[in-house]
Amino acid sequence: AIERTFSIIKPDAVRRNLIGKILTKFEEAGLRPIALKKIHMTRAQAEGFYAVHKERPFFGELVEQMIASPVVVQVLEGEGAILKNREIMGATNPANAAEGTIRKEFALSVGENSVHGSDAPETAAQEIKYFFTDEELVG
Ligand code: CMP
Repeated sequence: AIERTFSIIKPDAVRRNLIGKILTKFEEAGLRPIALKKIHMTRAQAEGFYAVHKERPFFGELVEQMIASPVVVQVLEGEGAILKNREIMGATNPANAAEGTIRKEFALSVGENSVHGSDAPETAAQEIKYFFTDEELVG
């Protein structure tokens, strides 16, 4: 089925001028960005977005990294978009990421891992709504 998923090009990748190379990976795999914007997340936005991780030992560092500099938030649409996005990204820890994936190619560490992607339909819907209005989705 045609799905929509939420994706972030994280600060480490934006700082290294990798927006285009990362978008190319998604587009070449058949995912279409139907909404995208560059934003500098506030602390409140980052803490709310990652609230599910707030008890984890890496939460503080995660928030600091996400608000250190701008990101690109986007909605990707396509056949099986949620799983496909996760395949294109590769494993969370770049040390475990498969050849050809974004994280294998570009990520610096598990924290600075260049991209975020929704892990399931419910989180995709929730994460899209967190950053975009319905009017902004122009698929
Ligand atoms: P992301 O998909 O954005 O969701 C939570 C993020 O926490 C994850 O990617 C990683 O960048 C970051 N993170 C930092 N340390 C860890 C860890 N030990 N395990 C999982 N995620 C981590």
